[in-house]
Amino acid sequence: MPRHFLDIARFDADELRAILDDAKAIKAAREAVAAEKPLAGKMLAMIFDKPSTRTRVSFDVGMRQLGGETLILDSSGSQIGTGETIADTARVLSRYVDAIMIRTTEHDRLLEMAEYATVPVINALTDDTHPCQILADVMTWEEHRGSVKGKTMSWYGDGNNVLHSFLEAAPRFGFDVNIAVPEGHDPQDRYVAEAQSGGSAVQLIRDAAAAAQGADLIVTDKWVSMGQEKAGGHNTFAPYQVNEQIMKAAKDDALFMHCLPAKRGEEVTDAVIDGPQSVVFDEAENRLHAQKSILMWSLAPGYKPPQI
Ligand code: CP
Ligand code: NVA
Repeated sequence: MPRHFLDIARFDADELRAILDDAKAIKAAREAVAAEKPLAGKMLAMIFDKPSTRTRVSFDVGMRQLGGETLILDSSGSQIGTGETIADTARVLSRYVDAIMIRTTEHDRLLEMAEYATVPVINALTDDTHPCQILADVMTWEEHRGSVKGKTMSWYGDGNNVLHSFLEAAPRFGFDVNIAVPEGHDPQDRYVAEAQSGGSAVQLIRDAAAAAQGADLIVTDKWVSMGQEKAGGHNTFAPYQVNEQIMKAAKDDALFMHCLPAKRGEEVTDAVIDGPQSVVFDEAENRLHAQKSILMWSLAPGYKPPQI
């Protein structure tokens, strides 16, 4: 069975802890790891059915820093865009490359890729989840504040892919989740149930300021996700903008996170995203380190990064 990285919920707490600890070690020893070229001779295919800056560059650079190589397939420049099935694409690519990273629309496309590929498949965002982002986010939270066990994050905006992966991570890292989203934008029940069944408290709080109280971390995302543009959405989301009032309502040492790209002036004000509590560029950097650890988990199980 290939070592797919599909969703946080497919891993237990110890496995995630090991991937994150390796990510931190790989970050600390980046020159030594690069000199080892542990993925020399390995090829990663990167499929993009949606745009990307961070994911595209961090996987590409990360793979090269590990000694491997990459190739990029966009829907428009491959037969995926002309209707070749995901199953056939998976079987063909598996004959050429050592791993497949895919950013796509419906989650079922990811699952179909994983079912038919005979090499590891990595989820680089679907309509439903974004697990690589959340590993980088937990890594960033820990770097700034230590253990996140018993802490609370408050989510603002749309209750979709990024929030879903946070909900899967919550019980595995031991944090609780407040959710401040407009009606009609609640997360899917199964992700809330996943967090609760693992022991995390999850509260849906429609009052934006109330949802920040006691929060150690405030997180938001674009109000309109890729491929989900809908008329009138912005008015619906306006009460859930993360601004200085929201940050004041949270704990004094609360951090602010955003997966980026941001629509400044919509889901977050300049004062917050550029302010002292914001760690958005650390999050972006940690995509690189977290994904290098994921690539090693998938392609070189048992690898131990140098400890420095
Ligand atoms: N956060 C994130 O996944 O960014 P990109 O869409 O630029 O890859
Ligand atoms: N929720 C956003 C995340 C972008 C990284 C989207 O799906 O567009």
